[in-house]
Amino acid sequence: MKNKIIAVINQKGGVGKTTTVLNLAASLSIMGLKTLVIDLDPQGNATTGLGKSNTNEEDNIYNLLIGNIDLDQAIKNTNIKNLDLISSTVNLSGLEVETASNADRAFTLKKIFDESKSNILNNYDYIFIDCPPSLSLLTVIALVGSDELVVPLQTEFFALEGITQLIKTIDRIKESLNPQLSVRGILLTMFDKRNKLSGEVDNEARNHFKSKVYNTVIPRNVRLSEAPSHGLPCVIYDRACVGSKAYFDLANEFISSTKGASAA
Ligand SMILES: Nc1ncnc2c1ncn2[C@@H]1O[C@H](COP(=O)(O)OP(=O)(O)OP(=O)(O)O)[C@@H](O)[C@H]1O
Ligand SMILES: [Mg+2]
Repeated sequence: MKNKIIAVINQKGGVGKTTTVLNLAASLSIMGLKTLVIDLDPQGNATTGLGKSNTNEEDNIYNLLIGNIDLDQAIKNTNIKNLDLISSTVNLSGLEVETASNADRAFTLKKIFDESKSNILNNYDYIFIDCPPSLSLLTVIALVGSDELVVPLQTEFFALEGITQLIKTIDRIKESLNPQLSVRGILLTMFDKRNKLSGEVDNEARNHFKSKVYNTVIPRNVRLSEAPSHGLPCVIYDRACVGSKAYFDLANEFISSTKGASAA
């Protein structure tokens, strides 16, 4: 299947990337779809959010990217049916410096996918890459290695400011390194209906990016922020809360539409 490798990306910190990766992947896995989460952030929030350690495991994304282990060795099961993980580690932050002499390093992950022997990728319906909050090498590796992007946008002041820079980066990667790349959808997060600004950002984003913006909006919901400390996606920790309901809605919208072909 095409378009199954999805990077969740925004160089702005704390906009809901990891929360979206965890809850969208878990929602799809509850719906019976096989999903793989790749934690490409040295912070390791997606790893701990799935109840795994980001410090003392050898089977991690860093060892995969530097060639110490193969793809099948890097993948681990989680406690959630249909949801597997490639965990992160703080070592990953050294990758940029350590690989400085390697001209091909932007293709590291793409090559691993292309060359994976036993067609491991065929085991999955969707693969989600959780990106760090920067436009560094790790983000470029994700942009080159993925088919499509989901961009979370926090409904607050300045939300749209960084987007121009992100779109420029995406366009540059499309021109040179990954012509197939496209934005699958833009997701409004942490929406607060009591805050006038949330509604304004919602309007502005839809005026600007039109149908690229998912109809589903993720509300600000304290359960979403509590779940990671229990090592569980919120859709499993408290599947009835408004935050979980929104992510289930997103999962349905996500699989029912591809939101057009070109980058916004
Ligand atoms: N809809 C929401 N309602 C309430 N809290 C949220 C919501 N979404 C995310 N959070 C919380 O906000 C914080 C930032 O979210 P998250 O870690 O998903 O962002 P991020 O973009 O991955 O951050 P980083 O750039 O550091 O990787 C976390 O503490 C998370 O639990
Ligand atoms: Mg994160």
